[in-house]
Amino acid sequence: MKRILVTGALGQIGSELITKLRSEYGADNVIASDIRTADTEAVTGGPFEILDVTDGEKMNEIVSKYKVDTMMHMAALLSAKAEQFPQMAWNLNMGGLMNGLEAAREHKLQFFTPSSIGAFGPDTPKTNTPQDTVQRPTTMYGVNKVSGELLCDYYFKRFGVDTRGVRFPGLISYVTPPGGGTTDYAVEVYYEALKSGRYTSYIDKGTFMDMMYMPDALQAIVDLMEADPVKLEHRNAFNVTAMSIEPEMVAAEIKKHIPSFEMIYKPDPVRQAIADSWPDAIDASAAKAEWGFKAQHDLASMTTDMLSKLKTTITN
Ligand code: SER
Repeated sequence: MKRILVTGALGQIGSELITKLRSEYGADNVIASDIRTADTEAVTGGPFEILDVTDGEKMNEIVSKYKVDTMMHMAALLSAKAEQFPQMAWNLNMGGLMNGLEAAREHKLQFFTPSSIGAFGPDTPKTNTPQDTVQRPTTMYGVNKVSGELLCDYYFKRFGVDTRGVRFPGLISYVTPPGGGTTDYAVEVYYEALKSGRYTSYIDKGTFMDMMYMPDALQAIVDLMEADPVKLEHRNAFNVTAMSIEPEMVAAEIKKHIPSFEMIYKPDPVRQAIADSWPDAIDASAAKAEWGFKAQHDLASMTTDMLSKLKTTITN
């Protein structure tokens, strides 16, 4: 990993990944790209290119121009948005991935792309969900993610492309809000707790899903990409998680800091159905054994950090 191209660099993961990679590998060695521009660190802090990932030709041009050796492909439509626009989701999520893998094959790049807990479905074991298990998702996002996992494995086996990836749980962060996901409630709740002291959750109480704090997610990407390939039995789609939580647990944790905080429940049928089709708690033992995955944050430490970081952003 010497010169890294990140797609979707203005998204929830991309915007913070850029900052981390630039501090570790040098600002000029991390090329940010996105379909739009913005006045943010990703654009102003180093090389930036406008890139629609469905445009394979432009992607190849950027790879050649910067002599890229690694691609981190983050551009994607999340689960709820994909359910609203399934055809667009297929075109963007699969078309973009195919272009990324082709660029990786042609230019011999190391390649990372995230899969998700969304790659599981209602037939998957709900708890302690194994690394290798039934994957029959019922959402377009899930169909994209399973196809992507298989495609990445295929490009490794067939063409020797050094593909690597994880199945991320819901990611919680204070920099760039997610958009169009099912797990977004666990981010929104912190903003609303500080702004109005109450939050109406579109996910019902008792609905468990895996989550992870963004710094742990970014570290996982770097650790997996730097891992000794000899030890990687799976390469792609490693289960990773830091906590299995439901809305009432988040509310209770926030109340420790803001005692008057109130959580109201008004489940949204579409996102609730998606959440119900996903596991409650996945097993990350393969990631731990094969490349030493470890999350530092639990719900309590994440909540303390989220509220203190957001307090400065929201009040400034
Ligand atoms: N956070 C994502 C979503 O909710 C899951 O990968 O869509």
